[in-house]
Amino acid sequence: MADAAREIALGILARARTERTHASDLMQQAFRATRLGPRQRRDVAEGVYAVLRAQRLLDWALMRVAGPGARALDGTRRDLGRWLASGVLAGTVTPAAARAELAGYDWAGLPAAAAAAGEIADVRERLAVTESLPDWLAARLLAEFAGDPGAAARLAHALNQRAPMIVRANRVKTTREALLTRLAAEGVEARATSLAPDGIELMTRVNAFGLASFTAGDFEVQDEGSQLVAELVAPPPRGVVVDACAGAGGKTLHLGALLGNKGRVVAFDVPPQAERKLEELRRRARRAGLSNVEALEVPVNGALPPAAARLLGKADRVLCDAPCSGLGVLRRNPEARWRLTEADLERLPGLQGSILDRFAPLVAVGGRLIYATCTITRSENDDVVAAFLARTPGFVPMAAKEILGTPRALAIGDGQSLRVAPHTHGTDGFFATVLRRTS
Ligand SMILES: C[S@@+](CC[C@H](N)C(=O)[O-])C[C@H]1O[C@@H](n2cnc3c(N)ncnc32)[C@H](O)[C@@H]1O
Repeated sequence: MADAAREIALGILARARTERTHASDLMQQAFRATRLGPRQRRDVAEGVYAVLRAQRLLDWALMRVAGPGARALDGTRRDLGRWLASGVLAGTVTPAAARAELAGYDWAGLPAAAAAAGEIADVRERLAVTESLPDWLAARLLAEFAGDPGAAARLAHALNQRAPMIVRANRVKTTREALLTRLAAEGVEARATSLAPDGIELMTRVNAFGLASFTAGDFEVQDEGSQLVAELVAPPPRGVVVDACAGAGGKTLHLGALLGNKGRVVAFDVPPQAERKLEELRRRARRAGLSNVEALEVPVNGALPPAAARLLGKADRVLCDAPCSGLGVLRRNPEARWRLTEADLERLPGLQGSILDRFAPLVAVGGRLIYATCTITRSENDDVVAAFLARTPGFVPMAAKEILGTPRALAIGDGQSLRVAPHTHGTDGFFATVLRRTS
């Protein structure tokens, strides 16, 4: 890799180590400030992600090949050590080249040292080191799959693979077939996804945002799992849909398109980020040609503002795509595992429940409340829903198979809820379940 690209990669790693910003955002910032070509950008991105995904394993293996003369790896030397180790394991850096930069390590012995992590006797430690997880998170995944440590390992491994580039054809402007043809004409090899009816995987590694088909609003970048959530929401023709935690509108736009640009989608988010995210949502809605989408900021606590309160008891669907631990999307945010804490996992169910309590009254009698997350923990999914149902009269569970039919509901979950994950469905990890308002 050219020196300039490598310097940028090491700079991003240093910032990812010390700042809370997502590495993907750090990368975008770095790319805006430099003149790297597309190929170099890709090399930087892949190199940085490879280090972030394997950080703990790299440190573990480096310790084992450190000779008596090795200096401690801290600060930027640690980034360099990890970068070189990742390159040596991938075969893109020779042991001799690594030695020239960082002496005192048996670089040729590094691949065998890394492979030895698979022999660690303790199950939790083995999972934590081989898949580069904090100890507490490895323990948590094993507890989630109690009795099936193999499933925990398959999930952790799948979360450490490079995520596919998935887009959603915008039904308001095109069809999946027509978009596949257009992408081919733009030199992009692509194929239909197997689960989401409007999904397309881009096989050619391109900057999707630079394609003319993107500028024209023919597609949005959206993981297949996320696309399945909107399908479960199943907005009725010309219906009123509330997206209570809309962010920059990934699902809002999808719901607007499923409504065929009719009806109404009202999107909310909270400060301090709401205005930035909702402005992005409005920009995306314009590009998508959607005129049935509104975006409104609501305060974090207290009474809903009049524009939201007017919807009390009026919405056909209310989607709460709640803030969560994000364990299902670690493929896309590999550094998040080091920022997340056990305390976050304890705190989140309370917040998720309070969001359900706040927005449930907007659902019309006969309408539906849909609770969704991008995580796989029972405490943030099933337990939050069970607690809500226990304290909220007038809502009952509605099985996914009642909405989608049994074969489809079983293809994307257990028939009751949507449950997809990278190791079982090849998608990001998502959970969603539907509650019907009866009174
Ligand atoms: C999982 S993200 C939403 C992703 C978005 N629905 C999408 O598909 O792109 C959760 C969102 O909930 C918002 N949020 C956090 N606390 C909230 C609250 N108390 N009420 C409503 N939204 C909240 C966050 O700002 C964040 O944008």
